[in-house]
Amino acid sequence: MNLDNLIVVFDNSLRTVFAPARAARVNPAADLPEAGLGEAEKREAEALMRVNHVGEVCAQALYQGQALTARNPEAKLALEQAAREETDHLAWCESRIHELGGRKSLLNPLWYAGSFALGAAAGVLGDKWNLGFLAETERQVEAHLDEHLRQLPEQDAKSRAIVEQMKADEIRHAQTAVHYGAAELPVPVKAAMRGMSMIMKRVAHRI
Ligand SMILES: [Fe+2]
Ligand SMILES: [Fe+2]
Repeated sequence: MNLDNLIVVFDNSLRTVFAPARAARVNPAADLPEAGLGEAEKREAEALMRVNHVGEVCAQALYQGQALTARNPEAKLALEQAAREETDHLAWCESRIHELGGRKSLLNPLWYAGSFALGAAAGVLGDKWNLGFLAETERQVEAHLDEHLRQLPEQDAKSRAIVEQMKADEIRHAQTAVHYGAAELPVPVKAAMRGMSMIMKRVAHRI
């Protein structure tokens, strides 16, 4: 990694973790009315959106690693487009957490560092595994967003609209990674990834 790349990585990590994210697209929840949520429902929605926000912090780190290591220029462009959509997700989750009166995970620097290390490790193995790791991550995120759509309060249309749009984007991101030659990861690796994200979700639900 040269010095320029190092600076980009450093800049992106600080912005992701400490600065408010800025979306390029309109927030899908913008025109929807705020539901009259009870206190318990509000706390649950907030916790779920914090978990989603952590997922998006990790996505920033992963895509950052991808953009640096991808060798195929077309794949690189497609990954950069996906990364911009991940920034929208980051911003939308963040604004929803604020609307619900919550706060972001205190462990975001740790989540970012962990994902970046994983992404960089996958990058060392070459495009096919790099993209394979990305595709599997996106699929697991999609499954987890589905779970959240079941758990979010039924009347919380704002949170649901954000999660729905994220889900549609993640499905597309996985397809993009496959299109550019993602390898299918070995079953034990997929299981390890699921185990790790389970721990992350439990922790981020509270902290
Ligand atoms: Fe995302
Ligand atoms: Fe994604």
